[in-house]
Amino acid sequence: MFLADCLGVNELGHLTIGGADAIDLAREFGTPLYVLDETQVRQNCRAYKEAIAKFYGGHGLPLYASKALSCKALCRIAQEEGMGLDVVSAGELYTALQAGFDPANIYFHGNNKTRFELEYALRERVGFIVVDNLTELETLSGLAAGRPVDILLRIKPGIDAHTHQFIRTGQIDSKFGFALETGEAFEAARMAAAAPNLRLVGVHCHVGSQIFDVAPFELAADVLLRFMAQIKSELGITLTQLNLGGGIGIFYDETDDALPYGVYFEKVAALLKERCAALDLPLPLLLLEPGRSIPGPAGVTLYTVGAVKEIPGIRTYVTVDGGMGDNPRYMMYGANYTVLCANRAAQPRTETVTVAGRYCESGDLIQEHTKLQATAPGDILAVLATGAYNYSMASNYNRVPKPPMVMITEGRPRIIVRGETIEDMARLDC
Ligand code: LLP
Repeated sequence: MFLADCLGVNELGHLTIGGADAIDLAREFGTPLYVLDETQVRQNCRAYKEAIAKFYGGHGLPLYASKALSCKALCRIAQEEGMGLDVVSAGELYTALQAGFDPANIYFHGNNKTRFELEYALRERVGFIVVDNLTELETLSGLAAGRPVDILLRIKPGIDAHTHQFIRTGQIDSKFGFALETGEAFEAARMAAAAPNLRLVGVHCHVGSQIFDVAPFELAADVLLRFMAQIKSELGITLTQLNLGGGIGIFYDETDDALPYGVYFEKVAALLKERCAALDLPLPLLLLEPGRSIPGPAGVTLYTVGAVKEIPGIRTYVTVDGGMGDNPRYMMYGANYTVLCANRAAQPRTETVTVAGRYCESGDLIQEHTKLQATAPGDILAVLATGAYNYSMASNYNRVPKPPMVMITEGRPRIIVRGETIEDMARLDC
């Protein structure tokens, strides 16, 4: 029933997160509340570092994809754990810099970076820009006058990673990156090689998200290595970095089939070694961009149950004091989640219910037809594995303030993101 090491049940039958009692947390900080366990986040970071050390001689760097959860506390942890960072907007970059993240280890992504964002990244000496298209290549070349900028090219490897279609980004019909088969990617490499202010150091791809297979990563690595070999033979440039993006899946419920990270890298690293030898390429620095798998399993959202509406013969709605504003993922993707009654966590989940939010929208649901303990108004509900793409995708629909986030460190909570107030809802109004 539990999906992460940080979760447990105490002698009161309450859910615990990193050893902290969920009911105490709800009482102290109110609900809705995002809770994140620091030990679990660090453990997830280390799993990547360890896999790279074990299977690839340490010749790699995991970059935390901060879109999963961008806040200063997470940037600090990523840096302390020896990771680089993937940012995709000026806002994510600003957050990282405010947290003291070393810009030399930041990779700036995005399929339509603004001129302001590119200027900002160059001014702050961001280590690497991952260029998405020819327009950006030209703009960047112009802006980089005087000081060469290290770039990677984002490539579409044309791989279908068999995940939910809305979060699949690696196939040909994608707004991201350069296509290989049209010659566009090679043209970009040629232009980059000719631009005096740009230094082409590597290639990047991202085949999708919440992936449980190793094959898409192996295929992508193979396609990119062949492109690197073409660049070497036709342009005389030996690229030193291969970035395979993020995408490794996590457990949301018992139907998920997440593999330990080491399983992916053992296979990918073996393939890289074999293919590099065959193509006569030096082993590139391997970059990975885990997002979801860093904070995802370490997060829980707590809610208070309001009305329980039983519609005879149809379904039972258990309503909570949050919903699509703090977690739009069921509404957007039909995403699966495990829901528990945190104050009855030791009891079996005997009921089948629909957990509904408090927003003015019929589709504002957190989970439909899901197992839950018998619940009553005032109970505390916990939705598990909400550490990624919940806070970062939250909205203020209905002018509902975003909840605060607490981090648990050795059983003790502290606020890492303050909750918004109703005054904040009108703060920017003129
Ligand atoms: N690198 C790049 C270039 C990406 O586009 C992404 C995610 C990542 C890394 C991190 O991927 P991860 O390890 O988290 O799968 N909002 C969706 C997920 C969108 C992912 C977008 N790109 C969701 O809630 O499921």
